[in-house]
Amino acid sequence: MASFEARSRHPNLWPPFTQLATAALPQRIVSGKGSLLYREHGEPLIDAISSWWVTLHGHGHPVMAAAIAEQAHRLEQVIFADFTHEPAERLGERLSVITGLERLFFSDNGSTAVEVALKIACQWWHNQGQPRQQIIAFDGAYHGDTFGAMAVGERNLFSEPFEQKLFPVARVPWPSTWWGDEAVVEKEDAALQVLDQLLETPTAAVILEPLLQGAGGMAMVRPEFVRAVAQRVQDSNVLLIADEVLTGFGRTGDWFACHRAGIQPDLMALSKGLTGGCLPMGVTMASERIFQGFVGQDPALTLWHGHSFTANPLGCAAANASLDLLEANPEAFRGFEQRHKQHLQRLLNHPRVGRIRLTGTVAAFDLNVEGTAGYLNPAGPTVKRIAMEHGVFLRPLGQVVYLLPPLSTSDQQLEQCYGAIEAALAKL
Ligand SMILES: Cc1ncc(COP(=O)(O)O)c(C=O)c1O
Repeated sequence: MASFEARSRHPNLWPPFTQLATAALPQRIVSGKGSLLYREHGEPLIDAISSWWVTLHGHGHPVMAAAIAEQAHRLEQVIFADFTHEPAERLGERLSVITGLERLFFSDNGSTAVEVALKIACQWWHNQGQPRQQIIAFDGAYHGDTFGAMAVGERNLFSEPFEQKLFPVARVPWPSTWWGDEAVVEKEDAALQVLDQLLETPTAAVILEPLLQGAGGMAMVRPEFVRAVAQRVQDSNVLLIADEVLTGFGRTGDWFACHRAGIQPDLMALSKGLTGGCLPMGVTMASERIFQGFVGQDPALTLWHGHSFTANPLGCAAANASLDLLEANPEAFRGFEQRHKQHLQRLLNHPRVGRIRLTGTVAAFDLNVEGTAGYLNPAGPTVKRIAMEHGVFLRPLGQVVYLLPPLSTSDQQLEQCYGAIEAALAKL
């Protein structure tokens, strides 16, 4: 195997999703305030992708910082079997009201929130004495990097070395749509036909990213499609898992994408914006009906799953503070779509821009460029470099350019983001 000099700013660190032989050197960030990241060297950058889609209210938010600090002084961590604590209880009460799912199970990140949802779904059928093998997911899905989450995600370059270890999953096409898409109904019908056929086999669960597949290329579907899927899944007496790790907490313009689509899943995976993006935490919400399937005298009914940091009090305090901020100003997320729209309209007839789409705080389009569509398309790094020269941090998914900024982003900063994109388009 060829040996490359690993280019890393630090000899002891191994960064995620990065080929060190070819990647640019990472820059050191010293602080963050609102939508800005302050570098050791160079002008501040607008964090136009919310640092991997997590930062919700902006960096260094005083309410978030105070809530975490206050909790750190009171109780930073405690084993969550045998004990409970007020921040966890309060979060459980609040999330059960806003998700319509009564029970909350804690884990550490988006992948584990998905793993737990899959395990709950499979074991629920097992506990009923009717084990079901089939799980249905969508083409292009991304649900995380642990084994179960990888199995339900699209199989690709990232999962290829593990292919033999991943359980089989049935697939339905994802009828992505965009402004002016005339074939959308046709694509949806074709996808629903595949789903109908698959649902003839006993199925434990269907998992989807409602409205928006993130890592799959900011690929959006219509609420009508999500509703049609949910209806069929329910009619077939199959469990529906909504992976709202990305879409939760206002990202799609409503509290949850499920709300915007008008559906009620049986299980919901949440993370990222859960703690306002300040601390790592995941939760899996489950309906009372599902929960009751795990309750009884027989130990075999128990969900034997847990993590050292289950319900970490700092994470719970951050999540409660983040909900306070969202409740105090829901217009911040409800109004974002309109703010994007006026800028996107400017790009509508640009020869380099295709397939414009928008939901809530997330705006995306495809670059009309050479090369295979996908994560490794070279146009992405070019746009990223030029945008950075204009003070904006973007991280295109191959030829897909998107903005997913924190709610703190001002009109002027949003204008700067679109200005940086236009500058990049001009140089492509
Ligand atoms: C929809 C979705 N599910 C799950 C995950 C995995 O979350 P994490 O990276 O926190 O493990 C992601 C991450 O981007 C995601 O977008």
